[in-house]
Amino acid sequence: MALFSMDLNSLRDLFIDELRDLYDAENQITEALPKLIEKTTYPQLKSALQEHLQVTRGQIRRLEQIFSRLNEKPTGESCKGMKGLIKEGDDMASRDGSEAAIDAGIISAAQRVEHYEMAGYGTVRTYADLLGEKEFANLLQQTLDEEKEADVKLTEIAKTINVQAKAA
Ligand SMILES: [Fe+2]
Repeated sequence: MALFSMDLNSLRDLFIDELRDLYDAENQITEALPKLIEKTTYPQLKSALQEHLQVTRGQIRRLEQIFSRLNEKPTGESCKGMKGLIKEGDDMASRDGSEAAIDAGIISAAQRVEHYEMAGYGTVRTYADLLGEKEFANLLQQTLDEEKEADVKLTEIAKTINVQAKAA
């Protein structure tokens, strides 16, 4: 949340605030993903994370598009929730042990990130609807759909990796 607190006087204020929070969260993710991509040994997981890195860059551009239309700057928030989630993923990727168990742990951390984002995007999409900002709502819905898709893909990959981790 905010580095310094500004008054929240309207849903529009809250909308901008939460978009900034998501903007910071997405930027943290683009910094953090390469380490996880490097660490994972499972090809399907590696390519899913690589693909999500590309998708995330597009999501950042979508947010920038919204901010430019709003005539507001995208920076100014620090997403502490994402910081914590990423720290957990980093810790997981630094562990020694069974490759399958570590990969399963990376998926677990990545799915926490996806769910956190889904909550955030669902909220701002709803605010955009309420504010009559149909174009913003559509852009945010696209991102929400991508996050859901990433989550489903991770669940699919986990089905194999969890079993390998169990057998390790
Ligand atoms: Fe994202």
